[in-house]
Amino acid sequence: MKILVTGGAGYIGSHTVRLLIARGHDITVLDNLCYGHKAAVPAERLVVADLAHADQLVEGAGFDAVIHFAAFAYVGESVTDPAKYYANNLLGSLTLLDACRKHGVGKFVFSSTCATYGVPTSVPITEDEKQQPINPYGNTKLAFERALVDYATAYPFGCCTLRYFNAAGASPDGTIGEDHDPETHLIPLVFQAAMGKRPLVEIFGTDYPTSDGTCVRDYIHVDDLAEAHALALDRLGPGVQLRYNVGIGRGYSVREVIRTAEAVSGLKVPVKEGHRRPGDPAELVANADKIRRELGWRPRYPELRGIMETAWNWHQTHPYGYGGPG
Ligand code: UFG
Repeated sequence: MKILVTGGAGYIGSHTVRLLIARGHDITVLDNLCYGHKAAVPAERLVVADLAHADQLVEGAGFDAVIHFAAFAYVGESVTDPAKYYANNLLGSLTLLDACRKHGVGKFVFSSTCATYGVPTSVPITEDEKQQPINPYGNTKLAFERALVDYATAYPFGCCTLRYFNAAGASPDGTIGEDHDPETHLIPLVFQAAMGKRPLVEIFGTDYPTSDGTCVRDYIHVDDLAEAHALALDRLGPGVQLRYNVGIGRGYSVREVIRTAEAVSGLKVPVKEGHRRPGDPAELVANADKIRRELGWRPRYPELRGIMETAWNWHQTHPYGYGGPG
C-alpha cells in the first residue's frame, strides 16, 4: 500500500514506519520535526512540513491510506495553552481529513488515547466506556474521533481509531526509541535518574486508592502498538469503522515501574514522594479483548519487564537520545 504517515518521525510513528517499510509498504512521512527526530526515519521518506500543507501533499499522490500520529501530547501544556492543541490536534487534523476526502484516500487510521475516557467508571476500560476527557488534550482527540466517524459515515472510506494506553519501550535492536524534550514520561525519567542524569524521580502521589497508593497504568510496547496499525490497515475498507483500546490489559503501579527499572538496570533509582499531579486518574488499564478478538492482535511484550528491558537498552546506548555526544 502507498501510505502517508503524519508524525512519522515521532516516538510511536517512527516504530510504525519501520514496521510498515519492513512489510513492503511504500511510506511517505509528513513531520514538521517540532517534536519528531530526523534520524528516526529514512531520509528519503521524509517530507518536512506542517499538517496545514497536507492538501498539497495528498493531491495527486495516490495514497491508499493515511496513518495520523501528528499531534501535541503534553496534557499539562494543553491546560495552559489550549489554543495550540485545538489548532494542531483538531484544525490541522481536519485539514488532513478533508484532503483525504477530496483526493480519494480510502483508509484512515487515527492515534487516539485513553485520555479520552477521563476518569473511567470501571476498570479495565472497554471501548464502550463513556468518553469524558478531563483536559483539553483529551478533548481535542475526542473531537477528532467524532469528526472521523462522521466523515466515514458520509463518504466512502474506512476508519480506525486506536486508543493507546501508555506507550513504552524501544525497538529491540536499540536504534530507535523514546526521546521527548521536555521528558515527562515515567519510564524514561526513571532510567535517567538511575543513570545519574537526573537527581531523582518524584512519585506523583502516594495516597491513591490502589494497592500501594501510587497510580496504576497499562504500559504497552511501542512495537505492539505499531502492529495494531498494520492489522487495522489490512482490515479497513469502504464503510468499515473500527475503534480499539490498545494495552496489555494489565496495570503496574509507579512503584512497580521503579522496582522493575532497578531490577533491569541493576542500578538504584533515587526517588522522592510528592503530591498528586493534577488530572491523573488513579488507574487506567485497558480491556483489549476487542482488538484481540477482531484483528487477532497479540502483544509480543505482555509484561512490564520485557518492555522495560528494551527501553533500558535504548537509554544505555543513547544516553542523549537522538542528539548530543552519545
Ligand atoms: N509519574 C510520576 N512521576 C513522574 C512522571 C510520571 O509519578 O515524574 C506517574 C504519573 O503520575 C502517572 C504515571 O507515572 O501515574 C505515568 O505517567 P506518564 O506521564 O508517563 O504517562 P501518563 O499516564 O500521564 O500519560 C499517558 C500518555 C498521554 C495520555 C495519558 C492518558 O503519555 O499522552 O496517558 O492519561 F494522555
